[in-house]
Amino acid sequence: MIPVNNDSLPWPEKHRPRTLDLIVGNSDAIASIKAWVLSWSKSLPERRAVLLIGPPGIGKTATVGALANELNMELVEFNSSDNRNKDSIETLVWRAASQQTLDGRPRIILLDEVDGLSGTSDRGGVGAIVRVIQDSVHPIIMTANDPDSPRLKDLFKVCQVYPFEQISHDCITSVLIQIAKENHAEVTQSVINQIADNSAGDLRAAISDLESYVKRNTKDSSVESITRDARRGTEETLRRLFMTTDPDIARKVLSESDLDHDDLVLWLEENLHLHLLTESELNDGFDGLSLADLALGRIMRNQDWKLLSYMYDFLATGVAGNRTVTPYRKVSYSQPMWPLLLWQGNRSRDKRGDVLYALSKLTGVSKRRVMRTHFDTIVEVIELRPRVIKDFASWLNVERTLLKKRSD
Ligand SMILES: Nc1ncnc2c1ncn2[C@@H]1O[C@H](COP(=O)(O)OP(=O)(O)OP(=O)(O)O)[C@@H](O)[C@H]1O
Ligand SMILES: [Mg+2]
Repeated sequence: MIPVNNDSLPWPEKHRPRTLDLIVGNSDAIASIKAWVLSWSKSLPERRAVLLIGPPGIGKTATVGALANELNMELVEFNSSDNRNKDSIETLVWRAASQQTLDGRPRIILLDEVDGLSGTSDRGGVGAIVRVIQDSVHPIIMTANDPDSPRLKDLFKVCQVYPFEQISHDCITSVLIQIAKENHAEVTQSVINQIADNSAGDLRAAISDLESYVKRNTKDSSVESITRDARRGTEETLRRLFMTTDPDIARKVLSESDLDHDDLVLWLEENLHLHLLTESELNDGFDGLSLADLALGRIMRNQDWKLLSYMYDFLATGVAGNRTVTPYRKVSYSQPMWPLLLWQGNRSRDKRGDVLYALSKLTGVSKRRVMRTHFDTIVEVIELRPRVIKDFASWLNVERTLLKKRSD
């Protein structure tokens, strides 16, 4: 592991492997990639690019960094947040691929997360990458998570593909023990094992879990104390959902997710703007989300589960299908600011149930949304014009006091 010198970095970053011997797992693939990179010094190989495909947190990006470092090569990196439309590939990436380095060192070009190429310019973007690969004078290494991404089809033809596997339980525990040691943290073997079990082969997640466990400074070794909440599952679902622009794939992601439907809508509402950056994408995205919420409201009210398929469709087209301009970028998702908890278990708020029910019946949307969009608005209106309280109260057939602003 690298020497611990920057305590402000999250542990997966702080312990990013600097050399290949520090990378665990996928040793055959890594050895072949290294041999291929070295072969460039003799002659141009038949395939000028390789593609590392595998789930998150298993060392794809780390391998490329360690390789460049170990071979003292210049690493030119284009990651998913960079502009990857046809034009920028033809200029920026092409320049990096066709020109020699200033100091004469060999170069590696990393196109990280190529399954996250942009929406409408997808086709052009992939075509441009293919052309750059064919004429590159430097090795190009690409990474991706989703082997089914339609974008990758054309890339498969021009590069050597290396599937990267999840990291084994034993490898994960050995890295965790080493990291615990370097951070002078006492962690029992049982905790290490539980973290490794929970990680499902994702080493980055395991290192993060270890970090939270150590920083929580607890002696509690129960599974609960070290199991992250649904957050990781949620983030994984959102990430996979936003990564695609194909509604069929998005639908599959949604139907395979274990997330509670209500939570899913809340998380999407909170995070949609991170991926849909143009006004029209955002408009269309929220339209899809509202329709999905409407469907969800009906499902819950009438237990009409046949509508679930529509809800998925609205979300799939709203979220994935509408991302036509903004490229996929890796982002940190925020937890919904308005969790259900706010109106759960609070005695005074319980009384609002009648109002929410009445409003939900009238408007046809879920009680949760009613609370946020209609109820608060009505209360504000009443604040401004107290006289209208009686109209609202009789319209909704509820007590007037329930429509007053309260301090809680
Ligand atoms: N195989 C590994 N060996 C050692 N450390 C690893 C390995 N895989 C992941 N890590 C740790 O997790 C961090 C993140 O790994 P990395 O960025 O390479 O994941 P990735 O496979 O590229 O994931 P993503 O698909 O999300 O980009 C690394 O900085 C390192 O600390
Ligand atoms: Mg990566």
